[in-house]
Amino acid sequence: VGDFAKKIVCIGAGYVGGPTMAVIAHHCPEYRVTVVDISREKIALWNSEQLPIYEPGLYERVAKARGHNLFFSTEIDKEISEADIVFVTVNTPTKTYGEGAGRTVDLQFIEQTARRIKANAGSDTIVVEKSTIPVRAAETLRRILHSGNDGVHFEILSNPEFMAEGTAVRDMEQPDRILVGSMDTPSGLKARDELTKIYEHWVPAERILTTNLWSSELSKLVANAFLAQRISSINSISALCEMTEADVTQVGHAVGMDSRIGAKFLNAGVGFGGSCFRKDLLNLIYLCEHYGLHPVAEFWQKVVDINDFQMQRFVHRMITAMFNSVVGKKIAIFGFAFKPDTGDTRDAPAIHICRSLLEERAWLSITDPYALDNARKDLEGFPGEIDYGTDPYEAVKGAHAIALLTEWENYRGLDYKKIYESMEKPAFLFDGRNHLDHDALFDIGFNVYGVGKPA
Ligand code: UGA
Repeated sequence: VGDFAKKIVCIGAGYVGGPTMAVIAHHCPEYRVTVVDISREKIALWNSEQLPIYEPGLYERVAKARGHNLFFSTEIDKEISEADIVFVTVNTPTKTYGEGAGRTVDLQFIEQTARRIKANAGSDTIVVEKSTIPVRAAETLRRILHSGNDGVHFEILSNPEFMAEGTAVRDMEQPDRILVGSMDTPSGLKARDELTKIYEHWVPAERILTTNLWSSELSKLVANAFLAQRISSINSISALCEMTEADVTQVGHAVGMDSRIGAKFLNAGVGFGGSCFRKDLLNLIYLCEHYGLHPVAEFWQKVVDINDFQMQRFVHRMITAMFNSVVGKKIAIFGFAFKPDTGDTRDAPAIHICRSLLEERAWLSITDPYALDNARKDLEGFPGEIDYGTDPYEAVKGAHAIALLTEWENYRGLDYKKIYESMEKPAFLFDGRNHLDHDALFDIGFNVYGVGKPA
């Protein structure tokens, strides 16, 4: 392993670390890249044919580079001691205890990692924060790394990821931008150039953005907050559409054609989910409160509130339409994942909606191509009757209603005539993602309810 120009180590073989390092190794054959993790199980999977996560294009890149310049290992201390650049991609979950519980980020894994880097670094090292963390977290890292300094210099950079699930490799290979934040000191700028040199292997120079450390840290939170805010904006309007015979799809289209507004991320639905949006919003809100900026905190809190309101509203509309009671009625849930093409259910709207329907004593029949194992865990211990199955035709048998919560492509191609025939009448269809052809369903005989559409 002696012939490499630089040694990169990435701590955390999860959703961010794995794909990021696979892409770096793929494009930078002269760098030796090692991903380390405390979990032997995870590392074994990364070294196998069955990677722990599925992303289009990931396996091909890993398979090509693995054993040449890409390695997965549990020897964290040894790898750190040889590294020139250490990426930190450990998870930063929301704190579940004590001060800031449910809102701020739990930084214990970041701190442990910093201590481990400090204990093992053999020479001057660049430390890159990639995990999403509160603004000024780099300061914490710096202080831990330089406490009782023994001659090794650490330079801290912020390099947040902007990958979405299902498009991680593409987002990394053809990014809108790569963001690198550094200190404005000679050693900070030198470290920054080391990192941008890596990305220049495949990213055009004009897409590599350099800022100060704090701007970079904050931009990650703000990007997700803005994306979530767009969804809450259109969802808030969907409520008004339902009252006024305006159609939210038409409104979104008309508004989005203004190039200053833009067309993307304006699909109304049952609300946003996923591991990031709520977490990052709550983190941003907590930061604003910490600095005494209460009106700013309240502004962003509303984005969360509207998302909760949207889910409640969806359930309320279902119950009202179904003659004010769903007690003992079978309801088929189409899709449980927080978005299509993933089995991930973290903070999925389906969790909240299903729990509310169970509280109303409905009987749920949940179908999803990939997310059923997670759905079972999410609803475990929740009182009520629930069936799970991958076949939508089974799920609808004898059901009073269908609630579509994830826009899986295959739900478009189903035989809705056959489905209608096997359901109780009147048969209701609540399309929480405006995914299906409502006119066609209406012609079959369904009572169709879209989001932000006249009933
Ligand atoms: C999101 C961001 O899109 C990434 O840029 C970011 O890097 C990532 O979080 C992160 O911080 O790690 P992701 O959570 O994978 O990515 O999912 P999105 O594709 O952004 O979707 C989030 C949620 O918004 C989904 O529940 C989706 O159904 C919902 N959504 C999205 C809408 O309801 N309407 C829309 O128009 C778009």
